[in-house]
Amino acid sequence: MTFVSLHEVGPRDGLQNEKRIIPVAEKVALIDLLGRSGLRDIEVGSFVSPKWVPQMAETPQVMARIAPVAGVRYGVLVPNIRGWDGFVAARQPGVVYEVAMFVAASEGFSQANLNCTVAQSIARLEPVVNAAQAAGVALRGYISCVTDCPFDGKVSPEAVAQVAAALRRLAPMPLSLGDTIGAGKPATVAAMLDAVLDVVPAAELAGHFHDTGGQALANIAVALDKGLRAFDSAVGGLGGCPYAPGAPGNVATEAVLEMLHAEGFTTHVDPAVIAAAAKMAKGMR
Ligand code: HMG
Ligand code: MG
Repeated sequence: MTFVSLHEVGPRDGLQNEKRIIPVAEKVALIDLLGRSGLRDIEVGSFVSPKWVPQMAETPQVMARIAPVAGVRYGVLVPNIRGWDGFVAARQPGVVYEVAMFVAASEGFSQANLNCTVAQSIARLEPVVNAAQAAGVALRGYISCVTDCPFDGKVSPEAVAQVAAALRRLAPMPLSLGDTIGAGKPATVAAMLDAVLDVVPAAELAGHFHDTGGQALANIAVALDKGLRAFDSAVGGLGGCPYAPGAPGNVATEAVLEMLHAEGFTTHVDPAVIAAAAKMAKGMR
């Protein structure tokens, strides 16, 4: 059976968008439950400005209280070297981490989310990459707005491919392609993937589909056809980006699992544990 890996982003992408500031203990309970599901990648927080995203301000406290599960890698978002320093101060001995950097394929979203141009956002990641490589920490790159931008409208496949190539020049990291506002459709996703696959192999790509337009599962199906075998999802369909108007929910982990298992893919993830986590996540809203 073909293996598809799921990257759980609920505790980060999901909870960053909740109005209520979720207490550390609730976040830790969700992360620890997810850790028992068979998931191998769980994103647990961000080292971004607390003025920009107050929901993630307590990421160090969350990291300190997680009961780490062997074989699980815990991911955090880092936008600049200041974020890297915050991660280094918060990381716990013996825990495996992944540091995820995030840039946009559109200038409008780059300004709204990172307060700088796309080129500036990539340039300031260079010291983060160097530090992570020296420390032996795994890297991941996110590209947002891969088909549509809430500010600039349609995003060209070539723009996404150019940003992908620029990130891969920094380091040979896997990339997650974000339909940040869930406006992508199978045809636009297919065209975007064709352009990106010219510069990055499918094995190094993940799909990150928000489900605003109800197309996330169809978009995942297109990406599977193109050879992608990694997808991001959030239990309970939590999620969104506070700087992307119209980005309410990530595709739900339980829905992705159901589709993948029905189509004969294996994930090593237990749907019963995910169902319990989805119930817990929905109760946190
Ligand atoms: P800025 O205001 O341009 O930065 O923000 P600055 O360098 O001028 O610093 C301003 C203040 O922020 C200073 O503090 C810095 O120390 C502080 P002050 O002197 O005013 O007290 N600062 C920081 N504090 C903590 N951690 C840091 C940090 N850096 C500076 N790392 C900045 C630039 C990048 C900080 C800001 O724009 C920011 O935090 N943006 C993050 C936005 C965000 O987290 N968005 C959601 C995640 S992305 C997403 O959801 C999309 C994704 O899911 C994929 C998809 O769906 O497409 C990944
Ligand atoms: Mg997202």
